[in-house]
Amino acid sequence: MPAALIESIANLRDHLSGARRASATIGLVPTMGALHVGHARLIEQARRECQLVAVSIFINPTQFDRADDLARYPRTLAADSSLCDRLGVDVIFAPSVEEMYPSKPQCTVAVGPIADHLCGRYRPGHFQGVATIVLKLLQIVQPDRAYFGEKDAQQLAIVRRLVADFNVAAHIVGVPTVREADGLAVSSRNARLSPEERQSATALYRALQFADRQICDGVTDAGSVTHAAASTIPDNPLLKLEYLEIVDPDDMQPVSTIAGPVRVAGALWVGSTRLIDNVLSTPPAVLQS
Ligand code: PAJ
Repeated sequence: MPAALIESIANLRDHLSGARRASATIGLVPTMGALHVGHARLIEQARRECQLVAVSIFINPTQFDRADDLARYPRTLAADSSLCDRLGVDVIFAPSVEEMYPSKPQCTVAVGPIADHLCGRYRPGHFQGVATIVLKLLQIVQPDRAYFGEKDAQQLAIVRRLVADFNVAAHIVGVPTVREADGLAVSSRNARLSPEERQSATALYRALQFADRQICDGVTDAGSVTHAAASTIPDNPLLKLEYLEIVDPDDMQPVSTIAGPVRVAGALWVGSTRLIDNVLSTPPAVLQS
């Protein structure tokens, strides 16, 4: 059966109330559309674990810090709907901006120091926009489980804190990053890369892997790991490293001595496209104990 395409909050609540009365497990996969195999992995996991799967498609204007990025964001609802149909999604929730923000909100979610580093440092207001829309979606759908990708590790960590801090009942499920054959993390922004840029784009994942190997080899000084990893990025006018940092995987604060599992995360500009990626690394002392 094709997925039901629902645009209004009232109709969605109506549609879900039957499932809720029948005690069906509801899974939510929040997205901004332009669905690809990374999103598909989240949907497939939701399909395995939940009786009703809802995918939201909403390009949330409040999380974009650059107008050109919002304007260039791909809008592909027809293709997204067919992918959802193929994956057995029950409901697509695709509201308009007016439906989600009928007036300028007076209340938004303020995100604390967990947003001070990595992307939060370079994208002012971004995580406030993300946390606010995710809380709204969780309130509207009231899912049992909600699925987020580790590709956006800081977003996932913030969503985990959001549900803890606001006592949201949903269980947050993190899903590993889906990659292209050469290691590039799948992203809707990859489509913007020219063939030459696409070739150079793997530099970020290679730098993260370099850092991971150093950590696995027992290097504990985070500064020297990030320095060495950053210097693997080729000297190429197309590439500009925005950040490469090592942080605690839960609170996203910088780590100076690596004594437990850490997230190594980076953002790389490839031409006019900004790509992000991260890996979870565990030092040998932790693996042995
Ligand atoms: P979007 O970029 O569409 O991503 C939706 C979900 O797919 C996110 O949880 C993201 O981490 C996950 N995802 C993207 N690429 C992935 C990949 N290669 N492997 C695994 N998961 C991947 O993230 C957002 O939308 C928005 O910020 C949103 C949470 C919907 C709030 O507006």
